[in-house]
Amino acid sequence: MNVPLLDLVAQYDGIKDEVLRAMMTVVQRQGFIMGPEVAQLETEVARLSNARHAIGCASGTDALLLPLRALDLKPGDEVITTPFTFFATAGAIHNTGGTPVFVDIDPSSFNIAPEAIEAAISPRTRGVVVVHLFGQMAAMESVLPLAQRRGLALIEDAAQAIGARRKVGGEWRMAGELGTAGTFSFFPSKNLGGFGDGGMIVTQDDALAERLRRLRLHGGARQYHHDEVGYNSRLDTLQAAVLLAKLPHLAGWSRARGERARRYTEAFLGHADVCPPAVDPANEHIFHQYTIRVPRRNELQAHLKARGVGNAIYYPLALHLQPCFAHLGYQRGQLPATEAAMDSVISLPIYPELTRQQQDTVIEAVLEFYG
Ligand SMILES: Cc1ncc(COP(=O)(O)O)c(C=O)c1O
Repeated sequence: MNVPLLDLVAQYDGIKDEVLRAMMTVVQRQGFIMGPEVAQLETEVARLSNARHAIGCASGTDALLLPLRALDLKPGDEVITTPFTFFATAGAIHNTGGTPVFVDIDPSSFNIAPEAIEAAISPRTRGVVVVHLFGQMAAMESVLPLAQRRGLALIEDAAQAIGARRKVGGEWRMAGELGTAGTFSFFPSKNLGGFGDGGMIVTQDDALAERLRRLRLHGGARQYHHDEVGYNSRLDTLQAAVLLAKLPHLAGWSRARGERARRYTEAFLGHADVCPPAVDPANEHIFHQYTIRVPRRNELQAHLKARGVGNAIYYPLALHLQPCFAHLGYQRGQLPATEAAMDSVISLPIYPELTRQQQDTVIEAVLEFYG
């Protein structure tokens, strides 16, 4: 039996009528730019994230770019981040004029290590971008006071973590709730995915929200009047309609991902070669990815491929070692926990529609490889 890494057709089959109805409302109205669905989705995502404001934009990349742009970085200004993430996190820092400063991760959660952030703060540091990787929030209770003490902006890249939460000071706090800004991606493969690109920023800061709304519309609050040079980065009305139809399912989908993750972990636990992902007890992990650490990873990957089991390596080359950042001068060996992760991780199929039989096929294929 073939098991795809992701099966968006199976998801679509389950919600087709709702999604098509929502799309046809927009099509019949022929109102594709900044239609009412955009504001409606912003209200819903702000509510989900316990945020005062949500601002739709064209992608998860732009959701990072816009608040970074609002920092008005000067040449030489530094923004500390994790090298174990999708490229967009650091690309956005570079493209808004900042210098990314990469620090190591906590090997158990794969998220940025707060003590490494503290050690990297310099007089040029302006901000920190944490990534809630694979659907599990970073240690906000440690990062937040650090940023506040030094007057740094704190951006939460929650592209993979919409609806995830963490107990901070005894209270559940949502991904995106605590930072200066939190950012989401609606890329089709995300837990809440559109039918194309899309993104959203959440913030508690009224003035920042107003600036972000301007920046996404070429820097003008009034049409044809521009206070600053911004971007064309709107969320499509059609995407907002699709996402609004999907949003009521998100909590159930996250639960189903969690159940599948628990089943994998039960099967792998106690096995010498397979290290399941650690879930910090303070976190409600939404399992955007189920990522194990294994020896002989590349051979396992070939074995899974031969068995028809979908898989992926997120991420095979950490960002401090990317050719485009060679000028920053990082060497292999400098960020050991990150480099150990990039050499040993592999992500397995996890989605709400994954059947027991499909999951058994994945588990058997992994365990068969290690005997
Ligand atoms: C951690 C992270 N940040 C940013 C992005 C960028 O999002 P997008 O692809 O919507 O631009 C993604 C997803 O692709 C991501 O996984």
